[in-house]
Amino acid sequence: MKVLVTGAAGRLGSVTVRALLAAGFEVRGTDRAYRADSAVRIEVANLLDPVAPYPLLEGCQAVVHLANHPSLIQNDSVRTFNENVTMNMNLLEAVRQMGLKKVVFASTIQVQSGRRGEQPSALPYLPLDSELPPNPGNAYGLSKQATEIMLQFYARQHGIHSVALRFPYLIDREMLAHVRDPSHRRHRMGYVNRDEAFTCLMVDDAASLILAILKTPLEGFRVYFPAVDGLRGEMTVAQAIHDHFSNVPLRQPAEEMTGLVDISRITRETGWVPAIGGAEPVGARVPGASGVAGR
Ligand SMILES: NC(=O)c1ccc[n+]([C@@H]2O[C@H](COP(=O)([O-])OP(=O)(O)OC[C@H]3O[C@@H](n4cnc5c(N)ncnc54)[C@H](O)[C@@H]3O)[C@@H](O)[C@H]2O)c1
Repeated sequence: MKVLVTGAAGRLGSVTVRALLAAGFEVRGTDRAYRADSAVRIEVANLLDPVAPYPLLEGCQAVVHLANHPSLIQNDSVRTFNENVTMNMNLLEAVRQMGLKKVVFASTIQVQSGRRGEQPSALPYLPLDSELPPNPGNAYGLSKQATEIMLQFYARQHGIHSVALRFPYLIDREMLAHVRDPSHRRHRMGYVNRDEAFTCLMVDDAASLILAILKTPLEGFRVYFPAVDGLRGEMTVAQAIHDHFSNVPLRQPAEEMTGLVDISRITRETGWVPAIGGAEPVGARVPGASGVAGR
């Protein structure tokens, strides 16, 4: 299968390109930015141009669409929303017209974690799963929710199968060491909002999920929330619930919960299991190890 990866010069895109090539996929990579050390030649294009996607999709059977403004940090709300939605619509219309049937899209946890700061949690239930209703708290999350609705439309009206991945905070090996360093522990809450429930995901695991989705026939539109208990360190589930989520309904008794996230549906449907963080929190130290723990 030949796959177009957009945002191929980005953090997740560059890792995804390598993972797909290693698995034997033919890959085309595009980005607005050029990257000399990319594993695939970057075809420079601006997806804000509605004409740009057509030559890029030529010969491809699937798209992994990662190119977007990845937060509100770089731009204001209007530009972030307008440009994300515009590039996503430009791409999806070209996908429809050129007859492709599979799209994997990088959405965000911020579609569902709208309550921010020190206010009580607005999560509807715990453990979190892939069925969480949207509740964006800013224009970035809103741009991703709008795109999920667009994907749903293209699935229903045009038979384009798609998965929106509501990625949490994506971390690499360097950040993992930082997260596991006890001296940084008290800063952890600074990484995330309460309603992100201390979750994260290794970039490599995000790429391996994209690979698993491309290999699995999945009909229609679906949302996955692929996250692991990452940043709560040695805080137990019961402690986290007591300190941060005492107002949130639990779907299981707290003492039976092994984590704040349930990814079992994703594993059941795709076979994907994250290499790091699946069984115990990413931030957990290996018993007996000194300094920064490794697994
Ligand atoms: N990094 C995270 O923690 C995280 C979490 C949740 C979701 N996501 C999503 O995952 C995707 C990848 O994130 P990332 O961390 O690799 O971000 P990144 O900024 O490293 O990569 C995004 C890429 O998109 C490209 N791009 C932006 N506008 C473009 C345009 N108009 N035309 C063509 N290319 C354009 C950028 O040049 C960049 O290389 C994004 O859609 C982001 O919203 C990331």
